[in-house]
Amino acid sequence: MKKQKVALIAAISENRVLGKDNKLVWHLPADWENFKQVTAGKPFIMGRTSYESEDMLFSDSFNIVLTRQTNYSLPGKNKTAGSLAAAMEMLAAESEVFILGGGIVFEQSLALANYLYLTIVHQEFEGDSFFPEVDWSEWELVKSLRHEVDERHAHAFSLNEYRRM
Ligand SMILES: NC(=O)c1ccc[n+]([C@@H]2O[C@H](COP(=O)([O-])OP(=O)(O)OC[C@H]3O[C@@H](n4cnc5c(N)ncnc54)[C@H](OP(=O)(O)O)[C@@H]3O)[C@@H](O)[C@H]2O)c1
Repeated sequence: MKKQKVALIAAISENRVLGKDNKLVWHLPADWENFKQVTAGKPFIMGRTSYESEDMLFSDSFNIVLTRQTNYSLPGKNKTAGSLAAAMEMLAAESEVFILGGGIVFEQSLALANYLYLTIVHQEFEGDSFFPEVDWSEWELVKSLRHEVDERHAHAFSLNEYRRM
């Protein structure tokens, strides 16, 4: 059987900031367009805090929201899971799974990932949620597309794809 693709996908600053006050600290339409293209049709796993963020992007397949609350209700075919292992078990038959964060969930799931889709925003920001430190010796950069500042984007950024070696 082909190995399941487990990808973390995030936009992070040069100092690994993910967000502040449960919001993103940048607005990058081309990053969202790329996100939609990369994740189309794939199921997502996300933390409950990120799920409640006004910036959250949802799967057009279905979403699993991690929470330890037992009475947390979700609309539609979205589901909750009480642990990362339970969420992965629910998605065991899927060929690809995308983990969307935030910081608490990335910290736990980096070890499971075999792909990273990281948008690196080429600036330092203040934030209160961070992507974990990555041991880059374990990863190879397979794709990188740099986007410069333009009328829609106040910051330069790179759309990077890494595969675990
Ligand atoms: N830049 C990006 O690409 C990106 C992407 C996503 C999010 N973000 C940012 O990240 C920030 C939010 O991240 P965060 O670290 O504060 O929170 P988070 O990781 O989104 O969610 C944390 C919550 O998820 C639940 N959870 C986590 N691990 C669990 C486990 N193993 N089992 C069961 N439940 C678990 C818990 O919910 P309960 O408290 O309900 O038990 C926990 O409080 C925001 O600023 C957001 O904007 C940025």
